[in-house]
Amino acid sequence: MPVPVKVWVRLCVVGRRFSYNQPRFPYATAFLFYPHLIVNLFDLSHKRILVTGSNAGLGFHVAQGLARHGAQVILNGRNIDKLRDAADRLRKEGYPVEEGRFDITSESEVRNAIAELCREKAIDVLINNAGIQRRVRLDEVSLTVWNEVIQANLTGAMIVSREVAKEMISRQEGKIINVCSLMSEFARTTTGPYTAAKGGLKMLTKVMCADWAQFNIQINAIGPGYFITEMTQVLADNPEFDGWVKQRTPARRWGLPFELVGAAVFLSSDASSFVNGQILYVDGGMSAVL
Ligand SMILES: NC(=O)c1ccc[n+]([C@@H]2O[C@H](COP(=O)([O-])OP(=O)(O)OC[C@H]3O[C@@H](n4cnc5c(N)ncnc54)[C@H](OP(=O)(O)O)[C@@H]3O)[C@@H](O)[C@H]2O)c1
Repeated sequence: MPVPVKVWVRLCVVGRRFSYNQPRFPYATAFLFYPHLIVNLFDLSHKRILVTGSNAGLGFHVAQGLARHGAQVILNGRNIDKLRDAADRLRKEGYPVEEGRFDITSESEVRNAIAELCREKAIDVLINNAGIQRRVRLDEVSLTVWNEVIQANLTGAMIVSREVAKEMISRQEGKIINVCSLMSEFARTTTGPYTAAKGGLKMLTKVMCADWAQFNIQINAIGPGYFITEMTQVLADNPEFDGWVKQRTPARRWGLPFELVGAAVFLSSDASSFVNGQILYVDGGMSAVL
């Protein structure tokens, strides 16, 4: 029976203190006490992962990729038909999928859904992926649209994380991954509410780390570049924008949804047990160049 990572880390720290002349001692203890960590740091077979906004788009592909890597995934979205279809697709592939229909911006829906989902089994990893985009220039934005975008991309992630974190804190273990964006760092015209929300989500990731890392919870973010999904189809269909993305991205192409899976596996697994408060950009290099 393997010991939990936190116990092993403690053993290593204690081991180091008493073994200045034999610095390899901690690694020996790792092999003795937690062999599967050494064999496969990326193993997800013991992880139950909730991905918000996963009845379509990037969230679905990430959930599918995590299921293919052995995780038990919980799909989410507001539209029940899309949710059933997405769950059926994964079940047909042979994965034991759960469904959690709730609106991440509704405090009462989130509270009830998380309580229900955690009744018998813990949520090991939460991926805050749900989000929306409304393109409008700032001088024309209505407060209704502003609030809608901020709530879906920022406030919703805070509400779901707060409810899940309470339970993770009591277990002293968990992982939260926020899906940020290049708009967490850069602005483009007509993306005011979205850019403000995703910039806020980047800082929310850091403050979650400040508050919760002490409870053995790792909170990180993934920042996708331009991927073709329902949200971005309108951009991909516009030859001018499509050309701009390809010219501006060093990899000279759009991302394919499955290309987010590697980052999600890493940040969901024991491989990232000392990675905290970081934003991992998966963008074909776009954020690296002018
Ligand atoms: N596509 C890209 O290139 C790109 C780039 C950077 C970042 N991102 C980020 O990646 C995430 C996914 O984007 P996407 O392109 O896959 O978008 P998408 O295709 O439009 O899918 C959005 C998902 O979020 C769900 N959702 C929206 N509002 C919700 C709410 N209030 N409560 C629960 N679920 C909600 C939707 O389901 P329902 O409609 O059923 O609720 C859907 O499953 C977003 O956070 C987005 O900002 C995307």
